[in-house]
Amino acid sequence: MEIPSRIVKQSGRLRPAPNLLDHAATCASFSWESAAAGLAGLPGGGLNMACEAVERHLAEGRGDKVALRWLGKSGQRSEFSYAELSAHCHRFANALGQLGVQPGERVFLLLGRLPELCFALLGGLMARCVVSPLFSAFGPEPIATRCELGDARVLVTTPELYRRKVRGLRARLPGLRHVILVGAADPELLSDPGVQGWSELVDTASADHAIGPTDPEDMALLHFTSGTTGRPKGAVHVHGAVLAHSVTGRYALDLHADDVFWCTADPGWITGTSYGVLAPLCNGVTSVVVEAEFDAQTWYGVLESEQVSVWYTAPTAIRMMMKLGLEALQGRDLSALRFMASVGEPLNPEAVVWGLRAFGLPFHDNWWQTETGGIMIANYAAMDIKPGSMGKPLPGITAAIVRRQQGGGIELIEQSDIDGELALKTPWPSMLRGYLNEEERYRKCFVDGWYLSGDLARHDAEGYYWFVGRADDVIKSAGHLIGPFEVESALMEHPAVAEVGVIGKPDPTLGELVKAFVVLKPGFEPSEALMRELLGHGRSRLGAAVAPKEIAFRSNLPRTRSGKIMRRLLKARELGLPEGDLSTLESDEQK
Ligand code: WT7
Repeated sequence: MEIPSRIVKQSGRLRPAPNLLDHAATCASFSWESAAAGLAGLPGGGLNMACEAVERHLAEGRGDKVALRWLGKSGQRSEFSYAELSAHCHRFANALGQLGVQPGERVFLLLGRLPELCFALLGGLMARCVVSPLFSAFGPEPIATRCELGDARVLVTTPELYRRKVRGLRARLPGLRHVILVGAADPELLSDPGVQGWSELVDTASADHAIGPTDPEDMALLHFTSGTTGRPKGAVHVHGAVLAHSVTGRYALDLHADDVFWCTADPGWITGTSYGVLAPLCNGVTSVVVEAEFDAQTWYGVLESEQVSVWYTAPTAIRMMMKLGLEALQGRDLSALRFMASVGEPLNPEAVVWGLRAFGLPFHDNWWQTETGGIMIANYAAMDIKPGSMGKPLPGITAAIVRRQQGGGIELIEQSDIDGELALKTPWPSMLRGYLNEEERYRKCFVDGWYLSGDLARHDAEGYYWFVGRADDVIKSAGHLIGPFEVESALMEHPAVAEVGVIGKPDPTLGELVKAFVVLKPGFEPSEALMRELLGHGRSRLGAAVAPKEIAFRSNLPRTRSGKIMRRLLKARELGLPEGDLSTLESDEQK
């Protein structure tokens, strides 16, 4: 495939006219303070995310417009107007009140992409609770860890997920007082302590409810993310972040009021919350929610039947579609599609160009993180694309490439085309306000008024940013961020395992796949059967999305003198790359 160095846009020809036409001029005149004037605010003052996403449209006469269009796994299709969505959310908020749940308490969601996920997310925010969506493909271990760290008071889930993953954890989660099950549950489950059915509790609740006073700095969302070491980190986001959701939806995704928008991400990861729910609703569009997992034909079917105009998806899915070839698209009427964006992992230049061939449109890569709360760097609709680049910082966002210095400071690298760490000037509205109960870890992300992302990147002379890699050992598999420590800990529970080191191994479709190197305890021998058993153990503890896909046995693992497993070295050896600086290496099988 021939990759042009530049895909030129004739912005005057784009319809509708892009929201962000002149990047330089908008950046120069933009301020978050003046952008905030575009928010509705609560009637009595204050700011609540759910009010911006839902209530304001009722107040401004758009209550009848379709907010959500839900496509179920078995072909169901339902629509909810902004007014209907509002009623469902208020019922959930009232139900929380009936249970005695207080503002600030944590409501966890462990659900597939069901309408109730949106109702509980927004209704929880209306009740001024802190909402923490979890990925429904997590196994019991990641669920328990996050509920413990986040002090879950309420969990909304389905009978099936409750039975398979949560029931056995109840003893570990004494603070979890209420479990609300969406869908028909057998009476046996409903007899567990604090378990109730959504239809009995929420559907029968009154929709008459008013959002209480909410400060823009009140905690709204808790999204867990992973680092190289230690337990997952709960990134704290506040109601004021909604300003960034609203503005980035308009600028980076080019949302216009009559768009039909589809974000394919799951709200268990922040993309699905910020851009599957909040940003599209703040911009008053119709947001399509698809319950089914990825399947190229199903997805093409959604694009066609719903006449999706703006589509936000991810590189792994694009690569899977590329594998199927252009024939799979034949005969589809995708004429409504006008803007396509991608996020979460490096988007290969081939994929950008494949978009042009397959859909007549390039994919627009953009960059952000759980910590940034919203899109920071993007290829805008009106901007020329350099395939392989993440684009330019949004208005209101100052990015830089920096180098950490010995003494703890940083040095800005002004010169272009030099690799360094990607940093963002603080603050911006959706910046994380903390890692829950981990002040020290939070503090370490900031130096001299800059937030350090942990990503390596560079910028070119025209101000385009290019992703280079991660500065740490976290793994990106199918766009999901996986902490090696969490995987290692789960494998260590197995009686045969003495030591484990986990790395991300490059994979042409998934980006990286999780690979574990295992040292067995005395008395255990490597075998096919044991390998399968360990793979199975990983899946049942962690869930398929996080579990290792490959396991290799070793007699020893490289460690530093302080005893840390050198994942970097495991990876270099796996890939046949130079081993780098080995001065800290202590024990090693190959020496
Ligand atoms: C990490 C953040 C994407 C927001 C939700 C997931 C990687 C993200 C890109 C991109 C290359 C990317 C980075 C980043 N990443 N976007 N366009 N090109 N890498 O957030 O799970 O916190 O992951 O995803 O490494 O730090 P997350």
